[in-house]
Parts: sequence; structure tokens; C-alpha cells
Amino acid sequence: MSETWWRGAAIYQVYLRSFADGNGDGIGDLAGLRSRLPYLSDLGVDAVWLNPWYPSPMADGGYDVADYRDIEPAFGTLAEAEKFIQEAHAMGIRTIIDIVPNHGSDQQEWFVQALAAGPGSPERARFWFTEGRGEGLPPNDWKSIFGGPAWTQVPDGQWYLHLFAPEQPDFNWTNPEVIEEFHDVLRFWFDRGVDGIRIDSAAVLIKDFTSEEESYTDHDGVHDIYRGWRRIADEYEGERILIGEVWLPDQERFALYLRPDEMHTAFNFDFMSRPWDARELRESIDMTLTSHLPIGAPPTWVLSNHDVPRPVTKYGRENTAFSHADRRDGVPSDLVLGERRARAAALLAMALPGSLYVYQGEELGLPEVDDIPGELRQDPIWTRSKNTVPGRDGCRVPLPWSGQEAPFGNGTGTPWLPQPASWGTLTAEAQDADPASMLCLYRAGLRVRRGKLGDGALRWLDAGENVIAFTRESGLACVVNFGAEPVALPENQGVVLASGPLEGELLPTDTAVWLRTA
Ligand code: NOJ
Ligand code: CA
Repeated sequence: MSETWWRGAAIYQVYLRSFADGNGDGIGDLAGLRSRLPYLSDLGVDAVWLNPWYPSPMADGGYDVADYRDIEPAFGTLAEAEKFIQEAHAMGIRTIIDIVPNHGSDQQEWFVQALAAGPGSPERARFWFTEGRGEGLPPNDWKSIFGGPAWTQVPDGQWYLHLFAPEQPDFNWTNPEVIEEFHDVLRFWFDRGVDGIRIDSAAVLIKDFTSEEESYTDHDGVHDIYRGWRRIADEYEGERILIGEVWLPDQERFALYLRPDEMHTAFNFDFMSRPWDARELRESIDMTLTSHLPIGAPPTWVLSNHDVPRPVTKYGRENTAFSHADRRDGVPSDLVLGERRARAAALLAMALPGSLYVYQGEELGLPEVDDIPGELRQDPIWTRSKNTVPGRDGCRVPLPWSGQEAPFGNGTGTPWLPQPASWGTLTAEAQDADPASMLCLYRAGLRVRRGKLGDGALRWLDAGENVIAFTRESGLACVVNFGAEPVALPENQGVVLASGPLEGELLPTDTAVWLRTA
């Protein structure tokens, strides 16, 4: 296996709970995932990234980890996880797992011990326990990212910090025990053949409590933590990688995480957040390439993940930008337009230099499900916002595999979130039979991309203000028309793939094409 496999890899994100149910309880699991390995192999991905698969009370979809060295019983067993890693390897697919270092679950042994041990104990020093300001006031006014206060009081009067839900107490990363514990967890999984670690909320581990305002993002101290992690990754053969979830607007600060002795790559959320607009996206690509170039790290390209609205829905809205502050949940969307743009966006992202992430269901063109009944919603954002912000369940609905009605071949039980009755045309089975489907586009794109696109550089072509056009060293050009009018194709030796029908020698609006240039 090549040493720099990750620089241009196509990585498929598996939200296990919703991927494929193997035992009929309505919850996706390892048995289901293993049965669908041929699907992933046909799709042509190099690796899978699995969201947290550990035992968890699921207060935040598994990002509340109760045991970092085991598998959630609803998903399967540790033995099955090991089997999955081996079977995937046998098909040339690597495994990346999610490690959540900022916080654990309130059901995790350490937190249970901390509660029992009481104020001032070494057990409490693994978290951020402290006294309040009196009269029922928390230590400060920091807010949780999911809404509400960032502190919760325990029966003996102390408060603990949780940047996310109260069920997710933050670890104290100034405590050497915490550092040691995570080193051991990394070794545990690398020893089992895991090829990479996606680091959850990677930039928020160090807090500055001297500040009145929330002050936890991107403090310099985080870099030492990841240097320690990199030393461990490098002890293993076969290039095990670290991928950071780093939401930072400042590209220079972002690039610091990618220095040679830190992470290998980090998610590029700027690209995902931009509106469907040539100037905006060109600027994002340019900025990304410029910031990565001096450090030699490959950029990453992400159109969606389990935290953001599905691309088909997002791009079908009048305002196509995305931000966490304004999710625009429930805002009407033209799904026909959205699909057309999502197809073009897919070819654009696949053609860019670096690695690519595909979130499960993106390849099926699934829309955001925005009519999940309130009582079935599971995202803590929904309850913590007092039922005003629907949250992220709409992109986490179990995949439709086959058939005409729910659960659409996803097991035999009732899916943990309801699937729309209309998904019969969106199943993998239906799309497999339709050469014009989103699934066939993704398969074709990923096939061409392997070896020809991915890692490397690009050269911009000037094709007008409303067009993004560039060539890659393999002799492929990518041209995307964002304008209302069709545009002429640049000189070429033939069309390799297009996101929609061309009009003779013209590229219609909201369409992308790959051309042979040599
Ligand atoms: C980022 C994850 O992607 C998200 O799903 C989770 O809720 C937060 N981190 C907290 O772990
Ligand atoms: Ca199941």
C-alpha cells in the first residue's frame, strides 16, 4: 500500500447508525456495514471514516463516548470491528475512526468516579470542576455550542464545564493523566489496524478561563497535544494519519495544525460553507491552495457531513451559503435545481487537488429531511434550543438501499429516524439501474479520479467571470458554468464526464464537465 495514500484519497464517511441495519432493530450496525463493503468497493473509495462507534448513551449521536476502547453494543462487538477492518483492508479500503478528545460521556467511568470522589479530588481534576459565583450562578457566563449554559451544577454544589451537551463533560487537557489516557487510546486502535484518526472538535481542547467571553478556540497549547499524537502515529508502519476537525476562519492559524510534526490533513469547511457562486468558490479554492502550499500538506474537499444540510437541499435554496449560526432549516428549496448544482459541485470537488470526503447518501443525492416529527428528533440541538432549531437529524436519516417503501432494504425494522415515503426512486438499487443517476455519476467520477486527479497542483484557465476552469497535470480539465447562459467549452480532445447533458459544444448553466486536454 502506497506510503502517501492519504494525500489524494477519496474517503467515504459512514454514519454507522444510519448506514445499514444488519439485525432488524432499525439501527445501522457493523453487520450491515460489512454486508455493504462491495457497494463501497464498487463506488471506488480508498477509505471509510466512521463516526464514533463506541458504547454511548447517544446524547449526541455517539459523540458522548462512554468507553473509548469498546464498540457500542447496538453496533456490534470489538471482534466484529476488528473483522471489519481486516475485510475492508482485503478490498483495498482503509479505516479511519473518530476520536473525541474534548469531552467524554457523563456515563464514562472517569466521570462517574469524579462525581463520587468529591471536590478537590484527583478524579475531579480530570475535568473542569469548580465553584460557582454563589446564588446559583455558574463560574462564568460561557454558553454551550448546543445552546444554554456551558456549566452544570452537581449535587455537592460544584459546577462542571461542557462546551456541548451536559452529558458531554469536557476533559482537562492540562492534566497529564488525560494526555496519557488518549495516547493509550490511540495505541489501542492503531494496534487493531486502524489507518487514521479523525479528531473531533480538535481546536477547542485548551480553555482560557481568565476571559469573560468564551475563550477555547485555537489556543496555542493544542499544538503540543497533536505533536504527541503524531509521534504515536509515526511509531506505526503503513502511514497512519491524523485528520483534524478544525473550524477556523483564519487560514494561517488553520495551516499551523498541518505542520509536518502535527496532523496530516484537516477538513476544509470554508469550501463547504460558500454559496453556489463562481467568484466565491474560486476565492475559497485559491485561499485553500495558497495556505496549504508552503507547508506541503494536501487540501481536503468536503461538500457535506453529518452536521450540515444535504447539498441537494442547500444548493436548491435561494441563498446557498451555509453557516452554523444560520442553518436555514426548513427554508424552501428547489430540489431539481439543487440536484443539478450538487452534481456539478461533485465533479468540481472531485477534480480539485487533495483528498475528498463523501458523506453517505451524498452519492445518492438524498435531500435533507426537514419534516421529522419533533418527538422523534434526537439531536440535542433540538431540545436545547427549546424546540426552535431542528438540528442535524435531517441529514442522518437511514439510507434507502432498495424497494419501494420504508425501510427501503435498510434492515427489516423501523428505522430510528423515519425515511420519506418518496425515497423509492433514490435507493441504491434504483440508481444502479439508471446511468443518469447521481450514484452512477459518483462512481464514474471516482473511477476517473483515481490516479488522475487527487494529489497534485492545478492551473487556472480563464473562461470568464461565471466559470470555474482549471487543468490538472494528468491532462484533465474541469469546467463549471455558474452563469445563466451556456458557455463555449475550451479547446479539448474530448469529453470525459459531464454532470448533465451538454448543448453541442456549449456547457449549460449549473453544469460541470471534465475534458481531456492532451
Ligand atoms: C463535531 C461533530 O462532528 C458533531 O457531530 C458533534 O456534535 C460535536 N463535534 C461534538 O462532539
Ligand atoms: Ca441493527
